Amino acid sequence: MMATPDELRPVEWADGAVRLIDQTRLPHAFVVKEYRDYREVAEAIRTMEVRGAPAIGAAAALGIALAALEGADLAPEAFRAHMDEAARVLASTRPTAVNLFWGINRTMAAVAAAGAGSPAEAAKRAVEEACAILEEDIAVNRAMGRHGAALIRDGDTVLTHCNAGALATVGYGTALGVIRAAVEQGKRIRVFADETRPRLQGMKLSAWELAREGIDVTIISDNMAPALMRRGLIQCAVVGADRVAANGDVVNKIGTYGVALACRAHGIPFYVAAPLSTVDLQMPSGDEVPIEERASEEVTHVDGVRIAPEGVPVLNPAFDVTPAELVSALITEVGVLRAPYEAALREAVAGAARPGEER
Ligand code: MRU
Repeated sequence: MMATPDELRPVEWADGAVRLIDQTRLPHAFVVKEYRDYREVAEAIRTMEVRGAPAIGAAAALGIALAALEGADLAPEAFRAHMDEAARVLASTRPTAVNLFWGINRTMAAVAAAGAGSPAEAAKRAVEEACAILEEDIAVNRAMGRHGAALIRDGDTVLTHCNAGALATVGYGTALGVIRAAVEQGKRIRVFADETRPRLQGMKLSAWELAREGIDVTIISDNMAPALMRRGLIQCAVVGADRVAANGDVVNKIGTYGVALACRAHGIPFYVAAPLSTVDLQMPSGDEVPIEERASEEVTHVDGVRIAPEGVPVLNPAFDVTPAELVSALITEVGVLRAPYEAALREAVAGAARPGEER
């Protein structure tokens, strides 16, 4: 799918190279980096040059494609060992978003399907599969947008947390895709973007990508939303997810749970937009999902400047678990799912695996 010049494409394949928008530089500088080595792609995921569950899944898939091209001249046995090592390196970058493992596994399956005899053929298949993942992601996000926009009324103010936008995907976004679709339908929508400490993806990324499209967005600090809800200034919340467990528990950026609790206390719908590639039916609940702990400097420093006293310990879990009972609906590419989520998710995943159904 061709992007218009205005559309953000944070992860791209360009003639044997992976192109990533360096999201650590936004909103001050728009820098696109090009990588030809899967180890560099892994490092870009680890340092969050590329971040957001679907975007890291796509980047990792392209990393596998780069590894396969690098190993295309190896003997079959050596090629297999080389690919296993690439999968291991890419999978060790970030633990929480299941899309990372989904992207790696899907591309590795294409390599395996090419058969043991021909690394060159396997490399070709890996590139095709990774590119298919990129293409599908945008279509999936647009489908999610269509389904989710129906939940948002003309005149609503929508709260969002972190960045589940074009920058967190291959394009268009999940939660921000729902908002984009509502705006495209002509609805007048105002967005409150939680700044999202510690890394400020809500302020630096969501506010930036919405404002550049002329969508009405206001930055609020993370502790402000309940007070605004109490004043009747927020009609619903829409967030993304890094992993949705089989029971519908949602693992997303730290602070999401607080947003969901505040929504429940004020009778406001709390919606989660997530593609089926974010659903992990192997995880019975959110409690089993590994939660990434990141460096304390993310909390003690802002843009390299220390703002905390020296010597005080810091906790920095990057994600939290929102129990399924706080989720008003899960917006997926196959439709809007309601509780009980376990049955709805199993049916959606099984249905998506059958050809001919809408995606
Ligand atoms: O640590 P990040 O920036 O990768 O976290 C991103 C989020 O938590 C997003 O909300 C989530 O990945 C959904 S993105 C469509």
